[in-house]
Amino acid sequence: MITTLGVETSCDETAIAVIREGRILSSVVSSSVPLHERFGGVIPEIASRYHIEYVNKVAKRALRNAKITFDDLDLIAATETPGLPGSLLVGLSFARAMSYALDLPFINVNHVHAHLFANFLSKDSERLRFPFVGCVVSGGHTNIFICRSLKDFELIGKTKDDAIGEAFDKVAKILGIGYPGGPKIEKYARIFSRPAFMPVKSNKPINFPRAYMDNDSFDFSLSGIKTAVLYHVKKKKISRREISRISWSFQEAVFDVLAERVGKACKKFKIKDVFFGGGVISNGRLRAKFERISVNSGYRFFYPPPALCVDNAAMIAGLGEVLFKNKKQ
Ligand SMILES: Nc1ncnc2c1ncn2[C@@H]1O[C@H](COP(=O)(O)OP(=O)(O)OP(=O)(O)O)[C@@H](O)[C@H]1O
Ligand SMILES: [Mg+2]
Repeated sequence: MITTLGVETSCDETAIAVIREGRILSSVVSSSVPLHERFGGVIPEIASRYHIEYVNKVAKRALRNAKITFDDLDLIAATETPGLPGSLLVGLSFARAMSYALDLPFINVNHVHAHLFANFLSKDSERLRFPFVGCVVSGGHTNIFICRSLKDFELIGKTKDDAIGEAFDKVAKILGIGYPGGPKIEKYARIFSRPAFMPVKSNKPINFPRAYMDNDSFDFSLSGIKTAVLYHVKKKKISRREISRISWSFQEAVFDVLAERVGKACKKFKIKDVFFGGGVISNGRLRAKFERISVNSGYRFFYPPPALCVDNAAMIAGLGEVLFKNKKQ
Protein backbone atom coordinates (compact mmCIF):
# COMPACT_ATOMS: atom_id res chain seq x y z
CA MET A 1 0.00 0.00 0.00
CA ILE A 2 1.57 3.30 -1.01
CA THR A 3 0.75 6.84 0.11
CA THR A 4 1.37 9.64 -2.38
CA LEU A 5 1.66 13.39 -1.94
CA GLY A 6 0.60 15.32 -5.07
CA VAL A 7 1.62 18.91 -5.80
CA GLU A 8 -0.18 21.09 -8.35
CA THR A 9 0.85 24.67 -9.11
CA SER A 10 0.49 24.94 -12.90
CA CYS A 11 -1.70 28.05 -12.92
CA ASP A 12 -3.56 30.01 -10.23
CA GLU A 13 -4.33 27.26 -7.69
CA THR A 14 -1.87 26.09 -5.05
CA ALA A 15 -3.02 22.53 -4.46
CA ILE A 16 -1.68 19.60 -2.45
CA ALA A 17 -3.36 16.23 -1.87
CA VAL A 18 -2.69 12.88 -0.26
CA ILE A 19 -3.81 9.69 -1.99
CA ARG A 20 -3.59 6.13 -0.72
CA GLU A 21 -4.18 3.43 -3.32
CA GLY A 22 -6.47 5.65 -5.40
CA ARG A 23 -8.41 6.88 -2.36
CA ILE A 24 -8.32 10.59 -1.53
CA LEU A 25 -7.19 11.13 2.08
CA SER A 26 -7.07 14.90 1.69
CA SER A 27 -7.19 17.51 -1.05
CA VAL A 28 -6.46 21.15 -0.27
CA VAL A 29 -6.79 23.92 -2.85
CA SER A 30 -5.88 27.54 -2.18
CA SER A 31 -6.78 29.78 -5.08
CA SER A 32 -5.36 33.13 -6.12
CA VAL A 33 -8.37 33.74 -8.43
CA PRO A 34 -9.66 36.73 -6.37
CA LEU A 35 -6.31 38.49 -6.92
CA HIS A 36 -6.68 38.18 -10.72
CA GLU A 37 -10.34 39.19 -10.86
CA ARG A 38 -9.83 42.88 -11.57
CA PHE A 39 -7.53 42.05 -14.51
CA GLY A 40 -10.06 39.69 -16.16
CA GLY A 41 -7.43 36.93 -16.48
CA VAL A 42 -4.49 35.29 -14.74
CA ILE A 43 -1.41 37.47 -14.13
CA PRO A 44 1.52 34.99 -14.09
CA GLU A 45 3.67 37.04 -11.70
CA ILE A 46 0.86 37.25 -9.13
CA ALA A 47 0.17 33.50 -9.47
CA SER A 48 3.78 32.45 -8.84
CA ARG A 49 4.20 34.79 -5.89
CA TYR A 50 1.01 33.33 -4.39
CA HIS A 51 2.39 29.78 -4.77
CA ILE A 52 5.63 30.81 -3.02
CA GLU A 53 3.65 32.26 -0.13
CA TYR A 54 1.17 29.40 0.31
CA VAL A 55 2.76 26.12 -0.81
CA ASN A 56 4.14 25.27 2.67
CA LYS A 57 0.90 26.11 4.45
CA VAL A 58 -1.20 24.10 1.98
CA ALA A 59 1.14 21.09 2.36
CA LYS A 60 0.88 21.20 6.14
CA ARG A 61 -2.90 21.36 5.97
CA ALA A 62 -3.07 18.47 3.48
CA LEU A 63 -1.03 16.25 5.81
CA ARG A 64 -3.07 17.33 8.84
CA ASN A 65 -6.38 16.64 7.05
CA ALA A 66 -5.10 13.22 5.95
CA LYS A 67 -4.03 12.56 9.57
CA ILE A 68 -0.53 11.56 8.53
CA THR A 69 3.01 12.94 8.85
CA PHE A 70 5.83 13.27 6.32
CA ASP A 71 7.13 9.88 7.54
CA ASP A 72 3.99 8.11 6.24
CA LEU A 73 4.64 9.16 2.64
CA ASP A 74 6.02 6.75 0.03
CA LEU A 75 5.96 8.84 -3.17
CA ILE A 76 5.95 12.49 -4.26
CA ALA A 77 4.24 13.50 -7.52
CA ALA A 78 4.07 16.95 -9.10
CA THR A 79 2.77 18.64 -12.22
CA GLU A 80 5.64 19.00 -14.65
CA THR A 81 3.82 20.42 -17.70
CA PRO A 82 1.90 22.23 -19.21
CA GLY A 83 1.45 25.44 -17.28
CA LEU A 84 2.89 28.86 -16.48
CA PRO A 85 6.68 28.39 -16.14
CA GLY A 86 7.01 30.51 -12.98
CA SER A 87 4.11 28.74 -11.29
CA LEU A 88 5.28 25.24 -12.29
CA LEU A 89 8.74 26.01 -10.97
CA VAL A 90 7.48 26.71 -7.45
CA GLY A 91 5.57 23.40 -7.14
CA LEU A 92 8.25 21.34 -8.86
CA SER A 93 11.04 22.77 -6.70
CA PHE A 94 8.98 22.21 -3.56
CA ALA A 95 8.11 18.61 -4.53
CA ARG A 96 11.65 17.70 -5.62
CA ALA A 97 13.09 19.18 -2.43
CA MET A 98 10.63 17.08 -0.39
CA SER A 99 11.57 13.96 -2.31
CA TYR A 100 15.27 14.65 -1.72
CA ALA A 101 14.89 15.51 1.96
CA LEU A 102 12.64 12.53 2.72
CA ASP A 103 14.54 10.18 0.40
CA LEU A 104 11.37 9.28 -1.50
CA PRO A 105 10.86 8.54 -5.20
CA PHE A 106 9.60 11.40 -7.34
CA ILE A 107 7.35 11.25 -10.39
CA ASN A 108 6.45 13.93 -12.97
CA VAL A 109 2.80 14.19 -14.04
CA ASN A 110 1.23 15.74 -17.13
CA HIS A 111 -1.48 18.14 -15.96
CA VAL A 112 -3.81 17.59 -18.94
CA HIS A 113 -3.70 13.79 -18.64
CA ALA A 114 -4.37 14.22 -14.91
CA HIS A 115 -7.57 16.18 -15.68
CA LEU A 116 -8.86 12.99 -17.35
CA PHE A 117 -7.59 10.79 -14.53
CA ALA A 118 -9.83 12.76 -12.12
CA ASN A 119 -12.66 10.51 -13.39
CA PHE A 120 -11.14 7.49 -11.68
CA LEU A 121 -10.74 8.98 -8.21
CA SER A 122 -14.10 9.48 -6.57
CA LYS A 123 -15.76 6.82 -4.41
CA ASP A 124 -18.25 5.56 -6.97
CA SER A 125 -16.16 6.35 -10.03
CA GLU A 126 -15.57 4.15 -13.05
CA ARG A 127 -12.54 1.88 -13.18
CA LEU A 128 -9.70 2.89 -15.47
CA ARG A 129 -10.12 0.89 -18.64
CA PHE A 130 -8.89 1.47 -22.17
CA PRO A 131 -9.58 2.54 -24.87
CA PHE A 132 -11.60 5.68 -24.31
CA VAL A 133 -12.03 9.09 -25.88
CA GLY A 134 -10.59 11.73 -23.53
CA CYS A 135 -11.79 15.31 -23.82
CA VAL A 136 -10.19 18.10 -21.80
CA VAL A 137 -12.00 21.43 -21.82
CA SER A 138 -10.26 23.86 -19.50
CA GLY A 139 -8.82 27.36 -19.21
CA GLY A 140 -5.79 26.49 -21.30
CA HIS A 141 -6.80 23.43 -23.34
CA THR A 142 -9.44 22.07 -25.67
CA ASN A 143 -8.11 18.64 -26.51
CA ILE A 144 -9.55 15.39 -27.81
CA PHE A 145 -7.43 12.29 -27.21
CA ILE A 146 -7.75 8.65 -28.10
CA CYS A 147 -6.46 7.01 -24.92
CA ARG A 148 -5.26 3.44 -25.47
CA SER A 149 -3.01 2.98 -22.42
CA LEU A 150 -1.31 5.09 -19.75
CA LYS A 151 1.50 5.72 -22.21
CA ASP A 152 -0.60 6.14 -25.33
CA PHE A 153 -2.67 9.34 -25.38
CA GLU A 154 -3.01 10.23 -29.06
CA LEU A 155 -3.97 13.89 -29.51
CA ILE A 156 -6.41 14.00 -32.45
CA GLY A 157 -7.90 17.46 -32.00
CA LYS A 158 -6.99 20.74 -30.33
CA THR A 159 -7.83 24.40 -30.51
CA LYS A 160 -6.05 26.48 -33.11
CA ASP A 161 -6.43 29.64 -31.03
CA ASP A 162 -8.34 30.12 -27.74
CA ALA A 163 -9.22 27.28 -25.37
CA ILE A 164 -12.94 27.00 -24.54
CA GLY A 165 -12.46 28.18 -20.93
CA GLU A 166 -10.31 31.06 -22.17
CA ALA A 167 -13.06 32.04 -24.65
CA PHE A 168 -15.60 32.03 -21.79
CA ASP A 169 -13.29 34.26 -19.75
CA LYS A 170 -12.70 36.68 -22.64
CA VAL A 171 -16.40 36.90 -23.54
CA ALA A 172 -17.23 37.53 -19.88
CA LYS A 173 -14.68 40.35 -19.92
CA ILE A 174 -16.36 41.85 -23.02
CA LEU A 175 -19.73 41.60 -21.23
CA GLY A 176 -18.22 43.09 -18.07
CA ILE A 177 -19.51 40.32 -15.81
CA GLY A 178 -16.28 39.31 -14.07
CA TYR A 179 -13.70 36.54 -13.84
CA PRO A 180 -13.64 33.55 -14.12
CA GLY A 181 -16.15 33.85 -16.96
CA GLY A 182 -17.45 30.29 -17.20
CA PRO A 183 -19.69 30.19 -14.12
CA LYS A 184 -20.91 33.78 -14.78
CA ILE A 185 -21.87 33.07 -18.39
CA GLU A 186 -23.59 29.85 -17.32
CA LYS A 187 -25.60 31.80 -14.73
CA TYR A 188 -26.72 34.47 -17.21
CA ALA A 189 -27.49 31.85 -19.88
CA ARG A 190 -29.71 29.99 -17.41
CA ILE A 191 -31.82 33.15 -16.96
CA PHE A 192 -32.32 33.38 -20.74
CA SER A 193 -33.29 29.73 -21.03
CA ARG A 194 -36.19 30.23 -18.61
CA PRO A 195 -39.43 29.95 -20.61
CA ALA A 196 -40.73 33.36 -19.47
CA PHE A 197 -37.97 34.96 -21.48
CA MET A 198 -38.63 33.16 -24.73
CA PRO A 199 -41.80 34.59 -26.34
CA VAL A 200 -40.42 38.13 -26.65
CA LYS A 201 -39.18 38.62 -30.22
CA SER A 202 -35.97 40.43 -29.29
CA ASN A 203 -35.11 37.51 -27.09
CA LYS A 204 -34.48 35.09 -29.91
CA PRO A 205 -30.99 33.53 -29.62
CA ILE A 206 -28.26 35.19 -31.67
CA ASN A 207 -26.83 33.00 -34.40
CA PHE A 208 -23.13 33.23 -33.53
CA PRO A 209 -20.77 31.46 -35.99
CA ARG A 210 -19.98 27.80 -35.42
CA ALA A 211 -16.49 26.96 -36.72
CA TYR A 212 -16.79 23.37 -37.91
CA MET A 213 -13.57 23.52 -40.00
CA ASP A 214 -13.25 20.78 -42.61
CA ASN A 215 -14.94 17.40 -42.42
CA ASP A 216 -11.99 15.30 -41.25
CA SER A 217 -10.83 17.72 -38.59
CA PHE A 218 -11.23 17.37 -34.83
CA ASP A 219 -9.73 20.81 -34.25
CA PHE A 220 -11.42 23.88 -32.84
CA SER A 221 -11.28 27.60 -33.48
CA LEU A 222 -12.88 30.00 -31.01
CA SER A 223 -11.42 33.36 -31.91
CA GLY A 224 -14.16 34.01 -34.52
CA ILE A 225 -17.04 33.67 -32.10
CA LYS A 226 -15.23 35.86 -29.57
CA THR A 227 -14.88 38.58 -32.22
CA ALA A 228 -18.54 38.11 -33.19
CA VAL A 229 -19.55 38.79 -29.58
CA LEU A 230 -17.30 41.86 -29.53
CA TYR A 231 -18.91 43.23 -32.72
CA HIS A 232 -22.37 42.47 -31.38
CA VAL A 233 -21.71 44.42 -28.18
CA LYS A 234 -19.87 47.28 -30.00
CA LYS A 235 -18.81 48.88 -26.74
CA LYS A 236 -22.39 50.00 -26.05
CA LYS A 237 -23.91 49.57 -22.64
CA ILE A 238 -26.02 46.43 -22.65
CA SER A 239 -28.87 45.40 -20.40
CA ARG A 240 -28.80 42.35 -18.14
CA ARG A 241 -31.42 40.82 -20.41
CA GLU A 242 -29.13 41.23 -23.43
CA ILE A 243 -26.18 39.81 -21.46
CA SER A 244 -28.33 36.72 -20.81
CA ARG A 245 -29.20 36.41 -24.49
CA ILE A 246 -25.56 36.73 -25.57
CA SER A 247 -24.44 34.27 -22.87
CA TRP A 248 -26.98 31.67 -23.96
CA SER A 249 -26.21 32.09 -27.67
CA PHE A 250 -22.43 31.97 -27.14
CA GLN A 251 -22.69 28.88 -24.95
CA GLU A 252 -24.90 27.06 -27.48
CA ALA A 253 -22.57 27.84 -30.41
CA VAL A 254 -19.46 26.62 -28.57
CA PHE A 255 -21.09 23.50 -27.12
CA ASP A 256 -22.70 22.49 -30.44
CA VAL A 257 -19.24 22.31 -32.05
CA LEU A 258 -17.78 20.43 -29.07
CA ALA A 259 -20.61 17.88 -29.12
CA GLU A 260 -20.21 17.36 -32.88
CA ARG A 261 -16.44 16.82 -32.56
CA VAL A 262 -16.71 14.36 -29.68
CA GLY A 263 -19.50 12.38 -31.39
CA LYS A 264 -17.45 12.21 -34.58
CA ALA A 265 -14.41 10.89 -32.67
CA CYS A 266 -16.52 8.12 -31.08
CA LYS A 267 -17.85 7.14 -34.49
CA LYS A 268 -14.55 7.19 -36.35
CA PHE A 269 -12.58 5.26 -33.71
CA LYS A 270 -15.54 3.00 -32.74
CA ILE A 271 -15.27 3.87 -29.05
CA LYS A 272 -18.32 4.21 -26.83
CA ASP A 273 -16.81 5.65 -23.62
CA VAL A 274 -15.87 9.32 -23.31
CA PHE A 275 -14.16 10.72 -20.21
CA PHE A 276 -14.16 14.50 -19.76
CA GLY A 277 -11.95 16.74 -17.65
CA GLY A 278 -11.31 20.43 -16.98
CA GLY A 279 -13.28 23.33 -15.52
CA VAL A 280 -15.68 23.82 -18.45
CA ILE A 281 -17.21 20.36 -18.03
CA SER A 282 -18.77 21.53 -14.73
CA ASN A 283 -21.22 23.48 -16.95
CA GLY A 284 -24.75 22.07 -16.47
CA ARG A 285 -25.95 22.93 -19.97
CA LEU A 286 -22.97 21.13 -21.54
CA ARG A 287 -23.61 18.01 -19.46
CA ALA A 288 -27.31 18.10 -20.40
CA LYS A 289 -26.35 18.22 -24.09
CA PHE A 290 -24.17 15.14 -23.71
CA GLU A 291 -26.86 13.32 -21.68
CA ARG A 292 -29.23 13.82 -24.60
CA ILE A 293 -26.63 12.56 -27.10
CA SER A 294 -26.00 9.55 -24.88
CA VAL A 295 -29.67 8.52 -24.94
CA ASN A 296 -29.78 8.72 -28.75
CA SER A 297 -26.37 7.25 -29.58
CA GLY A 298 -25.50 4.75 -26.85
CA TYR A 299 -22.20 6.56 -26.18
CA ARG A 300 -21.38 6.86 -22.48
CA PHE A 301 -20.11 10.15 -21.07
CA PHE A 302 -18.30 10.41 -17.73
CA TYR A 303 -17.41 13.52 -15.74
CA PRO A 304 -15.45 14.01 -12.51
CA PRO A 305 -17.31 15.51 -9.53
CA PRO A 306 -17.20 19.36 -9.66
CA ALA A 307 -14.34 19.71 -7.13
CA LEU A 308 -12.17 17.48 -9.33
CA CYS A 309 -13.05 19.24 -12.62
CA VAL A 310 -11.02 22.35 -11.81
CA ASP A 311 -7.36 22.27 -10.81
CA ASN A 312 -6.61 20.06 -7.82
CA ALA A 313 -3.72 17.91 -6.64
CA ALA A 314 -5.73 14.71 -6.05
CA MET A 315 -5.67 14.07 -9.81
CA ILE A 316 -1.89 14.62 -9.83
CA ALA A 317 -1.25 12.28 -6.89
CA GLY A 318 -3.67 9.69 -8.33
CA LEU A 319 -2.10 9.59 -11.77
CA GLY A 320 1.39 9.75 -10.22
CA GLU A 321 0.62 6.66 -8.12
CA VAL A 322 -0.60 4.65 -11.12
CA LEU A 323 2.34 5.75 -13.32
CA PHE A 324 4.79 4.84 -10.57
CA LYS A 325 3.32 1.36 -10.13
CA ASN A 326 3.27 0.86 -13.87
CA LYS A 327 6.94 1.85 -14.14
CA LYS A 328 7.93 -0.67 -11.50
CA GLN A 329 6.26 -3.58 -13.28
N1 LIG B 1 -19.62 26.39 -15.35
C1 LIG B 1 -18.67 26.66 -16.24
N2 LIG B 1 -18.98 26.81 -17.55
C2 LIG B 1 -18.03 27.10 -18.46
N3 LIG B 1 -16.73 27.25 -18.15
C3 LIG B 1 -16.37 27.11 -16.86
C4 LIG B 1 -17.32 26.79 -15.84
N4 LIG B 1 -16.65 26.73 -14.65
C5 LIG B 1 -15.35 27.00 -14.92
N5 LIG B 1 -15.19 27.24 -16.25
C6 LIG B 1 -13.95 27.64 -16.93
O1 LIG B 1 -12.97 26.66 -16.67
C7 LIG B 1 -11.67 27.29 -16.69
C8 LIG B 1 -10.88 26.82 -15.50
O2 LIG B 1 -10.75 25.44 -15.59
P1 LIG B 1 -9.41 24.71 -15.17
O3 LIG B 1 -9.08 25.09 -13.76
O4 LIG B 1 -9.55 23.28 -15.48
O5 LIG B 1 -8.43 25.40 -16.22
P2 LIG B 1 -6.90 25.70 -16.05
O6 LIG B 1 -6.34 24.77 -15.07
O7 LIG B 1 -6.74 27.15 -15.83
O8 LIG B 1 -6.35 25.34 -17.50
P3 LIG B 1 -5.45 24.08 -17.92
O9 LIG B 1 -5.91 22.91 -17.15
O10 LIG B 1 -5.69 23.94 -19.37
O11 LIG B 1 -4.05 24.45 -17.60
C9 LIG B 1 -11.90 28.78 -16.70
O12 LIG B 1 -11.60 29.27 -17.99
C10 LIG B 1 -13.39 28.93 -16.37
O13 LIG B 1 -13.99 30.06 -16.97
MG1 LIG C 1 -6.17 22.71 -15.23
